Amino acid sequence: MTEQARKVATRTRNPPGGLQGRAGERLPPSAVAVPALPVAVLLALAWLPATVLAAEQDSPSYTSDIAPILARNCIACHSTGTTMGGLVLETFGGLERGGAHGRSIVPGNSAESRLYLMVAGKIEPRMPFSANPLGPAEVELLRRWIDAGAPGPNPGEASVQVAQGRLPRIEPAALSKPQIFSLAYHPDGRLLAAGRHGGVALTHAETGEPVAFLDGLADIARSVAFSPDGRLLAAGGGHAQQGGEVRIWQVSDHRPLLAIQGHGDTIQALAFSPDGKTLATASYDKEIKLWDAASGRELRTLRDHIGAVYALAFTPDGTLLLSGSADRSVKVWDPGTGERLYTLSDPTDGINSIAIHPSGTQVAAGGYDCTIRVWELGENGGKVVNVLIAHRLPILRIAYSPDGTKIVTTGADRTLKVFDAETLAELASPKRQSDWVMSLAYSPDGRHLAAGRFDGSLSIYDSEHYRDQLRIIKTARKSP
Ligand code: HEC
Repeated sequence: MTEQARKVATRTRNPPGGLQGRAGERLPPSAVAVPALPVAVLLALAWLPATVLAAEQDSPSYTSDIAPILARNCIACHSTGTTMGGLVLETFGGLERGGAHGRSIVPGNSAESRLYLMVAGKIEPRMPFSANPLGPAEVELLRRWIDAGAPGPNPGEASVQVAQGRLPRIEPAALSKPQIFSLAYHPDGRLLAAGRHGGVALTHAETGEPVAFLDGLADIARSVAFSPDGRLLAAGGGHAQQGGEVRIWQVSDHRPLLAIQGHGDTIQALAFSPDGKTLATASYDKEIKLWDAASGRELRTLRDHIGAVYALAFTPDGTLLLSGSADRSVKVWDPGTGERLYTLSDPTDGINSIAIHPSGTQVAAGGYDCTIRVWELGENGGKVVNVLIAHRLPILRIAYSPDGTKIVTTGADRTLKVFDAETLAELASPKRQSDWVMSLAYSPDGRHLAAGRFDGSLSIYDSEHYRDQLRIIKTARKSP
């Protein structure tokens, strides 16, 4: 294995589609800001472990040395409420249990311990995720504690929960985050569907009036799509590590029509074929499946990605299906035969989002390398025709305007940017993104751009100037 391949193999990222952690929601960087303490206190805290280290060489204590480091730097994203990477660091039990990749610590062996390797920056992504790295003294304390066998709290030493084998399932009502993960306009432009926890909020696109909440989805609606004839609405999601789920409703009366269970993990993206007959789903389990949209019957499985698949799109004539994956590639498939036609492997890191030009001749993709890449799609391969490092942090979403003249991207740097699709010259970047924009949708007439955020806000922009936020919509929520 090459060094690069090994790197890819040792990490699986959960991007924004994504930027939800393995089994929970990823907090925006600001949410993990250091508590507001005077600088002097912070400095003192930072130095404390070093002093301890010098003073005593016996093994660090879980309760007095390790738990405080985890509490200060990690539990904002690794608690039972927000379980990124499937890992809970609130309790010793959670730490022992590990995360999506299994054990986080191997007692006695820091070099084999994911937790240590991640905080030391030896494997990606570095922890704490998108925050300042731990100081060398803290990293050293963690290393020594693990190498000393990672001893737990002494009896009566700390009020920690005992390992319970399985974590309690987090019920929707317990989730405070109202994130909007996905957005789609009805083909007639009048309805906007927003994928949320537990289902899809339908909103009147012009007035912003809530219309309905279509519930029944087990977890987050990570992807939503209307059928091309506007009759059906599909949402995909599922519980992490358990399986994928698709629900299909009739738009006219909100009646649930189909519930499809499939895949070995969450569905991250879905797309209707342009003739409306086939529904394609892409999963964290690295597979793409094609389903008969009317009956829910599974048609075929497309396998070739070696990482989670986060993005899917058909070309407008339906002859090609494209997929973007954490394995740093975009793949081009023949949906009729299931054959993989070719792979676009230029990205240097995982792909979060792809968009096909309305002409069907080009595809744009963005992801962890912060770069927009545009390829011309040929018979037997693609050619990069445009590249731009567009954001300071990973690209979360990418979209073409319906007339194909613009590309819009959103980034983990909390920006939304509009580019000239041909030159990639930046045209606009509307201010005040209150949080990560996790979902983007142009109205079918191209006049409006909807942006849904991690904090649950949904804005509609006038796509002539983009700076003008026409309105912020409050979407319907699942009644508790
Ligand atoms: C801002 C949120 C955030 C903070 C703060 C954070 N993490 Fe994470 N952590 C994540 C996300 C997201 C993942 C999943 C990454 C992936 O799968 O690519 C993760 C994954 C992990 C994993 C791997 C779990 C697995 O089995 O896949 C470990 C270990 C970990 N974090 C340790 C830590 C430690 C230790 C700290 C504190 C020093 C920390 N994290 C702070 C967001 C965070």
